[in-house]
Amino acid sequence: MQELLLREGSEHHPPRPPWRRGGAPEAGRGRAASEPAAMAAAGGFVRELERRGGPALRLEQRAAGGVGCVVWDAALVLAKFLETGACPLARRAVLELGAGTGAVGIMAATLGANVTVTDLEELQELLLVNIENNKHLVTGSVRAKVLKWGEDVTEFQPPPDYILMADCIYYEESLEPLLKTLKDLTGPDTCVLCCYEQRTMGKNPEIERRYFELLQADFELEKIPLDKHDEEYRSADIHIVNIHRKQALAGALETTERA
Ligand SMILES: C[S@@+](CC[C@H](N)C(=O)[O-])C[C@H]1O[C@@H](n2cnc3c(N)ncnc32)[C@H](O)[C@@H]1O
Repeated sequence: MQELLLREGSEHHPPRPPWRRGGAPEAGRGRAASEPAAMAAAGGFVRELERRGGPALRLEQRAAGGVGCVVWDAALVLAKFLETGACPLARRAVLELGAGTGAVGIMAATLGANVTVTDLEELQELLLVNIENNKHLVTGSVRAKVLKWGEDVTEFQPPPDYILMADCIYYEESLEPLLKTLKDLTGPDTCVLCCYEQRTMGKNPEIERRYFELLQADFELEKIPLDKHDEEYRSADIHIVNIHRKQALAGALETTERA
């Protein structure tokens, strides 16, 4: 599957759908809206994310700060995929890793899930603002917590029904801690939905290749076909991968825990 993902998109740049405002991914790391000037020109820092079921989510973004301060295209694709209803979310426990503005997790909470959006300490204030701004749309629940990849996850146990990740595979040093977190947090029934934008510049292809190589030691991966993504919010270079613990391993772990 890893080879399939790398082959697609690296040989051509498919035309960008209208909801993607930026230029080539290499030039804008995804989207012009991530740059303060472009955001101001586009009418401010709030990104509206339309919903099928009612008013749009209003997601505040920040001109200054790390990469988590803006809504990335992979987050839009994953949030809108959740809305297709392909994965039942009502009353399910959901944890989002590297949530940034919280777009994906908050969308899940509007679909009835009980969500914990997590990120580094410096993103907590923005997450709280966005939770507050959208709380009237939430039909499940949503809270923000610090979770640094690789660190202790005891407080997030038992394993959630879903782990959501958008655009979290982008630097080498994070790969092993991120995989540790995934291993620590997943049970046999946890479904991880990992959405990422395939980038072709610099170290990105190698980072993606390495990530999927490491992941496949403990997890089974299945790419969600593009025609199952939201009809509008889809793009040939943004992939959603459905990830599960390998059953034999999960079973063995359970046996060890019971012993
Ligand atoms: C490219 S942003 C994506 C944000 C959001 N998911 C989206 O797609 O709009 C990557 C996110 O991962 C978070 N992140 C990076 N390294 C992390 C780490 N070691 N532990 C926890 N979060 C981390 C960043 O703070 C940032 O919010």
